[in-house]
Amino acid sequence: MTSELITGIAELTTNAGSGPGDVDGNRIADAALVIEDGRIAWLGAAVDAPDADARTDVGGRAVLPGWVDTHTHLVFAGDRSAEFEARIAGGRYAAGGIATTVAATRAASEEQLVAGARRLRAEALAQGTTFLEAKTGYALDVEGEARSARAAAEVADVVTFLGAHLVPAGVDRRDYLDLVTGPMLAAVAPFASYIDAFCEVGAFDVEESREVLLAGRAAGLGVRVHGNQLGESGGVRLAVELEAASVDHCNHLSDADVDLLAGSSTVATLLPACDLSTREPFPPARALIDAGASIALATNCNPGTSYTTSMAYCVATAVLQMRLTIAEAVWAATRGAAVAVGREHGADAVGSLRVGGLADLQVLDAPSISHLAYRPGVPLAVGVRQRGERVTAGTTQW
Ligand code: NIG
Repeated sequence: MTSELITGIAELTTNAGSGPGDVDGNRIADAALVIEDGRIAWLGAAVDAPDADARTDVGGRAVLPGWVDTHTHLVFAGDRSAEFEARIAGGRYAAGGIATTVAATRAASEEQLVAGARRLRAEALAQGTTFLEAKTGYALDVEGEARSARAAAEVADVVTFLGAHLVPAGVDRRDYLDLVTGPMLAAVAPFASYIDAFCEVGAFDVEESREVLLAGRAAGLGVRVHGNQLGESGGVRLAVELEAASVDHCNHLSDADVDLLAGSSTVATLLPACDLSTREPFPPARALIDAGASIALATNCNPGTSYTTSMAYCVATAVLQMRLTIAEAVWAATRGAAVAVGREHGADAVGSLRVGGLADLQVLDAPSISHLAYRPGVPLAVGVRQRGERVTAGTTQW
């Protein structure tokens, strides 16, 4: 077991504090850390650093936890750039676009689905995402959803069952709900930790979503909801009622929705890259934070509404467009996101750097995290460690 001392850290963001405003608990200037056996063995001020078997100097750069991306749809086939172009020309996003991806996904082999998801997982990892959730939801039949769940389990840290994404063409709604809550759930549950429902006009209403989510919960899965993306769908109210881990999108919130979230344990997961691509209004992120709600940021990587794996892009957008501070945005993309997947505490906690915790971290080619918004679009994650191992291909020594 060799230890490695990392020095030259101009700013170490640990996000181990009590909240995004806890500057002393979250950040150490002129810091160092020791990695041993994939975990952080020590961290603190560089002047106090212990000796180690090996030494790496990051040359005055910033180090922070790896991104935790809690909302992706990585398992799919096909391309929807024509739909994107139509939207950019003035069309509006509607749930029905999912059907295009369903046809392509059903036609693909399991090997093709795994290869596509692996490519996106590698792309995300190279940009600092060390923990990632992936959903099913583009096959919408029993064998196809099971296949998607197996593929997701190959590449993702957490798998979510999203059979309730759309009622497939030609299938009776009631029959489809019976399928999702019966044989499809049984086939997918062994690979999944969560169940999700797209609670939206054109997808599933509140009653249908509740039925699906309760069936998933009875099968031992945690609950997540796609809610209030295209209108005040009732998804947020349902998520809070069911004590969901997360309600995602949240573009259209009433004051009552904000208050409900603030008084609940449900995380509002915001998806700024999707909002830009669909030209939906941004969620009221400031109002949520100011009311005391917990938020997370995620990419929502999918071929329809948000074809990006870049958490840094989401962080920059959250700062520049949604008026989060840098510290709030980075917290939401790391520790806040860990809360949204139940991985904030324990030996395998993610989203923060602490002694004894996993050495999942990134080195920025910048002296501070403020450069994530100050230099938007620049690939700043020049070193990425997952369980202490270097994962960035070729270009850096960190
Ligand atoms: O999160 N909103 C529902 N699901 C995806 C979009 C899926 C699609 O259009 O392919 C989302 O945006």
